[in-house]
Amino acid sequence: MPIDEDLKKAVLDHAKIEEVVSSFLPTIKKGKDYVAKCPFHDDTNPSMRISPSRHIFKCFVCGTGGDAISFVSKYLHIPYREAMIKVAEISGYDDPRLKNQTNSRPVDQRKTTLLKCLKDLSLYYSYALSTPEGKEGLDYLNNRQLDASMREKYRLGYAFNDGKATIDFLTSRGHSLKTIEDTGIAIMSNGKYRDRSEGRVIFPLFDIDGNVIGFSARRIKNNDDAKYVNSPETYLFHKSSVLYNYHIAKEKARIAGHIYVLEGFMDVFALARIGMDNAVAIMGTALTQEHIALLRQLNVEIRMCLDGDLPGQTATLKCAKMLSESGLKVSIVDNQNSSRDPDEILNQDGPDALRVYLNKLLSYEDFVLNYYKNSNPLTTNEQKKKLIAEFMPILLRLKSQLDFDNYVHKLSIITGYDYESIRDLVSRSRNKSEEETKKEVRIFHPEAKLLKRLQIAERELLYQMLHNPEAVVFYEHNVNSFYDEIYRNIANFIIDYAQNHASFNVLDIISNIEQSESENKEQLLEEITALCFENTHPKHCSVELLDNLLSSIKEEKEKIFEKDMLEQSLKDKDELERARIYSEYNRRRKIDDK
Ligand code: UTP
Ligand code: MN
Repeated sequence: MPIDEDLKKAVLDHAKIEEVVSSFLPTIKKGKDYVAKCPFHDDTNPSMRISPSRHIFKCFVCGTGGDAISFVSKYLHIPYREAMIKVAEISGYDDPRLKNQTNSRPVDQRKTTLLKCLKDLSLYYSYALSTPEGKEGLDYLNNRQLDASMREKYRLGYAFNDGKATIDFLTSRGHSLKTIEDTGIAIMSNGKYRDRSEGRVIFPLFDIDGNVIGFSARRIKNNDDAKYVNSPETYLFHKSSVLYNYHIAKEKARIAGHIYVLEGFMDVFALARIGMDNAVAIMGTALTQEHIALLRQLNVEIRMCLDGDLPGQTATLKCAKMLSESGLKVSIVDNQNSSRDPDEILNQDGPDALRVYLNKLLSYEDFVLNYYKNSNPLTTNEQKKKLIAEFMPILLRLKSQLDFDNYVHKLSIITGYDYESIRDLVSRSRNKSEEETKKEVRIFHPEAKLLKRLQIAERELLYQMLHNPEAVVFYEHNVNSFYDEIYRNIANFIIDYAQNHASFNVLDIISNIEQSESENKEQLLEEITALCFENTHPKHCSVELLDNLLSSIKEEKEKIFEKDMLEQSLKDKDELERARIYSEYNRRRKIDDK
């Protein structure tokens, strides 16, 4: 089925490319555009530009470029059609036509088999809660205020004490031992498989689409057994990339504009119980880059709420730093020294207390200052300088002058250094880093001077053609054909387009190239997007400019023609004669060039 062009256009019109790219990568605003480290090659400097006004992105090093949909398609390695749906989702565009876009990806048979087995098992665990043997589990969940609606929403369950029966149940449902083994739910004892979660309450773990991919099982009695037993790493379950409740929270977070990142799923349940579904749990592990990638896709503020004790605060600092350095907006629930988690606060003090607790937020900058102030002694000069050094990158990232003044002021109070000295220190390092970025940008921009005169002139004219209909007419009448093949092909696309449209839209031209059968399509796309981003061209397209370009192009073409002729004429001459003609030609060229 071909792509529905109207739908595609609607999706692209609605999407903000900078928002789409930012939901996968950190981006930095540079003038009207944004820059980012290019994800399509091993990039150390931001060489990718994203242009909100032109709705395109382009890497100046590896050449990858295109619209928001092709970005997502390339970034996630998914077909264009699927990427279109994703872009619509990211930009909050709802269109009934999107529902008809069938998923063109081949089914992952292994995944399907495992998911089916896990689903059956999850139903079995839920069913167990309604049996006399499962009463223990039901009582436990009730005691923890997890009522029927919570149990259903999170598909909570109980694993019977008889762990062998679990395996028998699954085989009776047609799942092979190999499949059962691959789900990670079984352990071997005395040559027989048993359920590794037997006798525990069950919290299914989900993928981002809400499929059960593993389980966490809590002990019921207060004994020395491990509190939680989790599924091992399997084909489907990778603990480091799971954010508990993401499948529910992703929509709710977009509506709320923020998401809470909590320690455990009991905390997620506590927030759900007071009507806040915009929360996920990292399940006691460290925050990973995979987690950050998932959070980034939401385009919302991240509110961290881990434990209030010192290890919890240290973990918070680390997570918040990672998030902030990844360009996400972070704030932190101010819970320093509070020893209770959200679940305990709700059960002991009620819903309002939990709401108050969750709304007491610190900015990332304030959190860092408080953390250092409270956890490190600030007596020696060395300690104070260290704090300033730690805080420097944070100050450098602040965009608002008011924030900047505010934090320099606070830092000055904490350290005792005066405001001006700290400010000077920051501006010195800011200048340095700006110099460096300028240098980088210069290295990676196509260096116009390196191009030959003909190429410069043709490129200039092509640029003008992309922006001014007069330039298109001028080209058709006076130039007719560029020497450079790529430019020539692009020019033909522009002419084609201009003949059929009254108004001009570069994106549509790019789209036409994308859908064409051109052999050198990729090259054409690379050039046209690069061209769109070049800011070295004159904005005003005067007759004079066009005439100048025309004479440059004519002269240079003439020279090439002359050289071709020369080469022809040299063919059947002897050595001596060839040398004479050649030096005469070069002498003339030198005079011409002056
Ligand atoms: P906590 O120890 O804070 O658990 O671990 P909790 O959420 O307060 O749970 P309750 O209230 O004691 O039942 C936080 C998270 O760390 C993971 C779990 O995902 C838990 O939700 N964890 C903890 C484990 O994976 N294994 C453990 O043994 C303990
Ligand atoms: Mn708890």
